[in-house]
Amino acid sequence: VNATKPPSGRLDVLGIGVAVRDITVLLEQFPTPDEKHQADGFFESSGGPVPTGLVTLSRLGDRTAFCGVVGDDAAGESIVDDLTREGVGAAGVVRRNDMSSPTSVILVEGGRRTIFECWQTDLPFGIEDAERLGVAFDRCRYLLVDGRLPQAQIAAARWVRQAGGSVVLDCGHPRPGVDELLQVTDLAILSHSYPRALLGDDYDAAEFLDELCGSLAPEGSRIAGLTLGAEGCLIRDPDSSLIRVPGHRVDAIDTTGAGDIFHGAFVHALLNGDSLEAAARFANAAAALKCCGMTGRAPLPAEEQIRVFAGL
Ligand SMILES: Nc1ncnc2c1ncn2[C@@H]1O[C@H](COP(=O)(O)OP(=O)(O)OP(=O)(O)O)[C@@H](O)[C@H]1O
Ligand SMILES: [Mg+2]
Repeated sequence: VNATKPPSGRLDVLGIGVAVRDITVLLEQFPTPDEKHQADGFFESSGGPVPTGLVTLSRLGDRTAFCGVVGDDAAGESIVDDLTREGVGAAGVVRRNDMSSPTSVILVEGGRRTIFECWQTDLPFGIEDAERLGVAFDRCRYLLVDGRLPQAQIAAARWVRQAGGSVVLDCGHPRPGVDELLQVTDLAILSHSYPRALLGDDYDAAEFLDELCGSLAPEGSRIAGLTLGAEGCLIRDPDSSLIRVPGHRVDAIDTTGAGDIFHGAFVHALLNGDSLEAAARFANAAAALKCCGMTGRAPLPAEEQIRVFAGL
């Protein structure tokens, strides 16, 4: 285990979650078994919802830092290097020699992505690791979490909220610990895959969001939302009206990380003082523009261009 200096000063957004090395193969056709296929492209990048959300915030000018765990291997090194290069503080990243860095193998074909997750469960990271590294949970405006390190995230969320910060959850699947994490979450914007896994394909989105809202931290801002892929998003504001913001029609080549960029851009807009609806429009636009490039770390246009694209 080794680490560098702890971050200092106030942060806009601190994140805790799974950090991943993404291996992406672009294909013309989804593979059939036991055949040889020609790939149209091969990409290695960093990924993971929280790190990619933080990279988005950093690119938009916000002060961010990430904490989590990677292996003491080449993938772990490039995950940390990529964060640092993007201006995301990485002093809260533990590198352990008893694990392989979380990795995803992603097949992209016809604008759809199929993800194989490797080494991403039972990650050895606890709140005591973050404490030991001096992660400043009492000095951030927002905490971004993914439900993948629930015990550490619940502890961090309590700490952040006690110091006056807000907790944002980005989660794609119901997992052990997420229900408890929701109770200390201020804004939960989940992927449509979450209610699908829970309730099946014809779930009632308004009903689901009502319930989600009711399960959030009682004294918090209680904002619940769903991202709906190309369809855009739904946000339920605290006054219980439902805001539907349609998606943008783009030539999507790779939607990997669209949800991560959505969350980063959404929080950036809130930091900027935007309304919930404006934040949703900004986030939809940023996420749609990302889909025109390969990998979750595809370049993003400047903020002004995203705002123009969003019609803001
Ligand atoms: N094909 C698309 N065209 C335009 N916008 C898209 C498309 N896919 C996604 N988006 C935008 O990205 C947002 C997030 O997408 P989605 O709901 O698929 O996230 P997700 O399921 O969390 O996936 P991931 O985390 O892998 O990115 C959507 O709300 C929308 O704004
Ligand atoms: Mg997602």
